[in-house]
Amino acid sequence: MPGVSAARAAQALDNGFLADVLDGLSRPRKSLPCKYFYDREGSALFDAICTLDEYYPTRTETALLHDRAAEIAGLAGPGATLVELGSGSSVKVRILLDALDDPAMYVPVDISREHLVAAAARLAGDYPAVTVVPVAADYVRGFALPRGVRPERTVVFFPGSTIGNFRPAEALTFLRGLGQRLGVGARLLIGVDLRKDRRILEAAYNDAAGVTAAFNMNLLARINRELSGTFDLTRFAHRAHYDAVRGRIEMHLESLVPQTVRVAGRPFRFAAGETIHTENSYKYSIGGFRRMAARAGWATERSWTDADGLFSLHWMVWRG
Ligand code: AVJ
Repeated sequence: MPGVSAARAAQALDNGFLADVLDGLSRPRKSLPCKYFYDREGSALFDAICTLDEYYPTRTETALLHDRAAEIAGLAGPGATLVELGSGSSVKVRILLDALDDPAMYVPVDISREHLVAAAARLAGDYPAVTVVPVAADYVRGFALPRGVRPERTVVFFPGSTIGNFRPAEALTFLRGLGQRLGVGARLLIGVDLRKDRRILEAAYNDAAGVTAAFNMNLLARINRELSGTFDLTRFAHRAHYDAVRGRIEMHLESLVPQTVRVAGRPFRFAAGETIHTENSYKYSIGGFRRMAARAGWATERSWTDADGLFSLHWMVWRG
């Protein structure tokens, strides 16, 4: 795999799937961590979500990146190292790599190792001048950056409003820890979904083709595949609704009947109508996000949004 450091990619990913599933299903209000959506099937379903008419974040953020690419390149400066958190298929970063002045290194960090390695290899082939160093890791737990990367040259790219998966207090802690790890002068280019009419939000998570439903249900299929689960997928349904008070989309899997499901031999009882909470997707105002980031030590130098105010991109610098 030319241009790709396989050593890091080969790091074992101890994700504790079984322990997290048993813990989440044992709670009075059942829940599962959303990071487990992204196995091979889930990553492919997520890519399909990104092409849906109803799912405005991807195309809106992509258009913003195209519109602002030259400005971003000026802010980033020459010879930058791009670190992408949750890089997935590494599609959006190509807009930046095409615009940047002689980018030196690209460090995609993703929990989905197979997907990461394949995407990194494709990207390394397309950008032979860029050193591609994939890191298979749950970036929330921390990850090792390549040696010798200077903070003032580093741009962390965190697109897609993945920051919305954190509760605001956890987002603040995460952003502070990220800055501390990178050092003073490091830059952050982050995509943040905005609060808006609930009809637009709820349509984005209840698409007519049922792709988001399949993405959510794949978590149960994955438990069946990997943890000897006995979930009957016809007895659960996808639910997504917007909580305007908390400013978040909640995704759940609802048990349609009273039933007992086993995971690794352990029984879990469900009442009819009981749900497993699988994801939060927080939405911010531009001011609200900037204030939260400021408390975490990140100074916002630019914020961009589309004409309809659907989505925002922010350029921030770590001041500590
Ligand atoms: C990648 C976490 C930002 O919350 O919109 C898409 C994931 N979930 N449809 C989001 C997701 C359902 C997505 N994030």
